[in-house]
Amino acid sequence: MISSDKLKKLYLEFFQRKGHKIIANASLIPENDPTALFISAGMHPLVPYLLGQPHTSGKKLVNVQKCFRTTDIDEVGDSFHLSFFEMLGNWSLGEYFKEKSIQWSYEFLTSKKWLNIDEKRLYITVFAGDEKIPRDTESARIWKELGIPKEKIFYLPKEDNFWGPIGSIGPCGPDTEIFYDTGKEPCGSECHPGCPCGKFNEIWNNVFMEYNRTQDGEYELLKQKNVDTGMGVERTVAVLQGKDTVYETEIFTPLIKRIKNLADIETISKEQIKSVRVIVDHSRAATFLLAEGIAPRNVEQGYVLRRIIRGAIRHGKLIGIEEEFLSVLSLIIIETYSGEYPHLKSNEDFIVTELKNEYKKFNNTLARGLNRFNRIARKKNKIDSKDAFLLYQSFGFPIEITKELGLENGIFVDVDGFHEEFQKHQKVSRISAEKKFGSGLADHSIETVKLHTATHLLNEALRRVLRKEIIQKGSNITQERLRFDFNFDRKLTEQELQDIEEIVNSQIRKALPVKRIDTTLDEAVKMGSQAVFDQKYGEQVSVYTIGDFSLEICSGPHVNNTGELGRFRIIKEEGISAGVRRIRAVLDS
Ligand code: SER
Repeated sequence: MISSDKLKKLYLEFFQRKGHKIIANASLIPENDPTALFISAGMHPLVPYLLGQPHTSGKKLVNVQKCFRTTDIDEVGDSFHLSFFEMLGNWSLGEYFKEKSIQWSYEFLTSKKWLNIDEKRLYITVFAGDEKIPRDTESARIWKELGIPKEKIFYLPKEDNFWGPIGSIGPCGPDTEIFYDTGKEPCGSECHPGCPCGKFNEIWNNVFMEYNRTQDGEYELLKQKNVDTGMGVERTVAVLQGKDTVYETEIFTPLIKRIKNLADIETISKEQIKSVRVIVDHSRAATFLLAEGIAPRNVEQGYVLRRIIRGAIRHGKLIGIEEEFLSVLSLIIIETYSGEYPHLKSNEDFIVTELKNEYKKFNNTLARGLNRFNRIARKKNKIDSKDAFLLYQSFGFPIEITKELGLENGIFVDVDGFHEEFQKHQKVSRISAEKKFGSGLADHSIETVKLHTATHLLNEALRRVLRKEIIQKGSNITQERLRFDFNFDRKLTEQELQDIEEIVNSQIRKALPVKRIDTTLDEAVKMGSQAVFDQKYGEQVSVYTIGDFSLEICSGPHVNNTGELGRFRIIKEEGISAGVRRIRAVLDS
């Protein structure tokens, strides 16, 4: 039986033998990408390199990447969707293209030495083409040459076989997807790979990223033809083990055992399945998000975290778990994964404390909120925008929980009206990840580049003014402002803020050169470079120096000289969780 650990090991080994370098599993929180809350695919941190920036590890890369997809939270409960998952990926940055990519996928899947899947089980989809992008007959030809019969190769439209970009602009392209036939009866005469009935399960997606989607929705050819492939670890393991759901794999066994124990149930009933799956998924996702230093809040990543923690707590009640249980489950998750993800262990106290605190906060209002929901539902047979807002504001119900309650009870919930109501109260609603559009890592606008360099200056200035142990806990840059989180446990004084501004501005006045050095991680550390998260870097890194003021491992891009920056001004300083402060700052021209 192939376990998830074994699959990861085999995948990395296979592609290393094909000349790929292993790159680090990046943080779940995108760096310098204001347009996305989470890393949602292995290619996400690689956008600058897919666009043509040289990568320090070369042109053939492979890794395991942790991902979180807000768009899939509502789907959790079915057989295969997970909000947090691990993705295996291999990339060609302008090196090999369709031929090798498909041949290697076929070899890895079917060779006795590797996964040894019976090739008769494989079904393939390719891009059918549209008015802007041609039909992918080349991929179909390569599959046929490998021995896949043409009746097992399906041409599907853009909705199915075109991937990217992340956000609205950036690298994207047609893909070929590989499906595994479970051997079940087809659901009807139209059943084909891509049909959600469960006969065919997708195991791998090879994207041929040769296009860049521009601001006006056109597709221009990139400087280089890239390959980006993605294989979901949990679902592939389920398929290889002949399981009908990801939850039946060994990955989740200890968690499910503990949940049954906490709920005091022998066999999970049909009515309980969804709740158990939600708890499994959300507890694992919450543990990984907390390990990044994110705390439950009402905006951005913290809001998504709050939503999944509260969702899990409600589902816990539904299956009869009365006491606080998420911290108990988080310890199992930390135990399972800390070999690969040591930052789980080093953040254990924070994870456990935040889960307990959030339970306390929500548990205080949950029962009363549910009563209120039932009363309104009985009286009006719907939840209008004001009721939904009341449930949010007075009882701490994220709108998604109210929506789910509505679905369970067959009651309409005015979700759009809620958002309008919310905006009236908040002016700018920042709670929905899906509403965040923009350019992301593909955005190399001069404003973001300048603010990125200013972030390095701020990082160093904080160390000089506060203490040398300051480290970055998060960074987010839009075209308008930078936002920087760091470890410090009290409010900064007016004097400290002024000193920080002055140090940054004096480095700007000095017009210091900004230089990039490509080197090994060991060398970079020896040089005294600032680094960010545990486990984040590959063996090869780039280091940016700003005069002799700052030295930081970073993938760029940056301005050439600090003289280009304008005047640095801090606009806000606040605490965001225990021991973490946040500064927002701008550059005035
Ligand atoms: N980016 C593609 C995906 O996420 C392939 O890696 O499916």
